[in-house]
Amino acid sequence: MRRKLIAGNWKMNKLKADGIELARSVFEKCTVNLPFDVLICPPMSLLGLIADMPHGSCGIGSQDVAETIKESGAFTGDVSAKMVCDLGATHAIVGHSERRTLHHETDDVVRQKAENAMAAGLTAVICIGETEAEREGGEALSVVSRQIQGSVPTTATSENCVIAYEPVWAIGTGKTPTVADVAEVHAAVRAELVKLLGQEVANKMRILYGGSVKPSNARELLSVDNVDGALIGGASLKIDDFWGIASTQL
Ligand code: PGA
Repeated sequence: MRRKLIAGNWKMNKLKADGIELARSVFEKCTVNLPFDVLICPPMSLLGLIADMPHGSCGIGSQDVAETIKESGAFTGDVSAKMVCDLGATHAIVGHSERRTLHHETDDVVRQKAENAMAAGLTAVICIGETEAEREGGEALSVVSRQIQGSVPTTATSENCVIAYEPVWAIGTGKTPTVADVAEVHAAVRAELVKLLGQEVANKMRILYGGSVKPSNARELLSVDNVDGALIGGASLKIDDFWGIASTQL
């Protein structure tokens, strides 16, 4: 049985005071037994501060890690996975579509970042997903299969890796795929993971859905076969929205 994970990706949002307040509101709710695992990924500027707060069972993640295999060195502006771990983080998002697009990250780069995260003891949250043109061209399944083969290290396990399927056209747009489309892609992702990692590992690995998840559609999306949680952008920035999703009754 895969326990669902509700993950908030704050992206480049929140200054110190607001970020601390939002984190505190989440952490206060993470002191009791919850039906889901919960994770927040603040910007790097707040990661250490927030990880130092009492955070109950809530995981804390970075939104990226450096590509270099080195743990330190002359890499201006980069933060290594080891540094992220040293701040108290448990997870690191890698390969988000905004990084793949805006920073031209390839599958090879994403795989290296995932390996670095895992080597540092973090759980890598590896993002994949097709663009609108790829979906319209009937290529959604081939794109995510290729991204899995290219971005997921063969050393991945259900402990050190989570997959997040985020159709690029659904991110921040209010649009979501149909339940049937989500089910189809998640089943394909699982099948691809079986090929790469074997049945036993693949069956235990969590596959999150991301892209315009909100309290009003969370139940429907989280009920789909092979959807093992959600990666939430916009709705993770307000406690009522985030907790509206994290407290979904299935
Ligand atoms: P969204 O973003 O929930 O605002 O669509 C999801 C994401 O980019 O992880």
